[in-house]
Amino acid sequence: MTNKKPIHYTGVAKFLHWAIALIIIMMLVFGQGFDEIKTKAEMTFSLAGHSSLGLTVISLLVLRILWRIGHPAPDLPESVGSGQKTASKLSHLLLYALMIYVPATGLYTIAAHEFAAVPYGAFDLRSALNFLGTDDFDGRRALHEFGTWLLMALLAVHISAALFHQFVQKDGVLRRMWFGGGKPAK
Ligand code: HEM
Repeated sequence: MTNKKPIHYTGVAKFLHWAIALIIIMMLVFGQGFDEIKTKAEMTFSLAGHSSLGLTVISLLVLRILWRIGHPAPDLPESVGSGQKTASKLSHLLLYALMIYVPATGLYTIAAHEFAAVPYGAFDLRSALNFLGTDDFDGRRALHEFGTWLLMALLAVHISAALFHQFVQKDGVLRRMWFGGGKPAK
């Protein structure tokens, strides 16, 4: 038996972190193309892809939040000052808030869309969200877009902080979320 505290995230937490990151970055990049769409066929295809990835992200996020409740993040190394620890907690909380806000406003926007969205080719999501009303598509879309800009800004801070730890402070903080080695958090 050892008392040593775990220094790595669990394999499940790592998988969920990188899967969600990959999908969100893809959505942020491909989402920029919505303004260029000219035909109904293109819009239907894009809405199907965007809503499939969106529902996947929502499912993974629910799993991640449930997993996180039972498996707290490992403590940061002692070399990380208290100001940096507070900033890290605050930015992670904001990231979670935006990861909820952006998909939620996406669903709100789909409900008022001119065209149906059929995620995974399986069902008509717009009709399923009928209870959210269908007024003011532009206002809803603006709420969603605003969230995506905030998310991009916060992701830039998050990635810069990870790289700063890795290459300037060299304190192993990024390695805690990378694969292989280390004792996982319980
Ligand atoms: C983290 C998840 C998501 C990200 C990162 C994301 C990202 C984006 C981006 C970047 C845009 C383009 C905004 C612009 O004009 O600049 C967009 C538009 C849109 N998104 Fe999302 N989105 C997400 C989730 C969702 C979800 C879950 C839905 C609904 C199922 C959704 C529905 C829409 C709709 C309807 C539009 C507007 C399409 C149009 O202009 O006709 N989004 N999204």
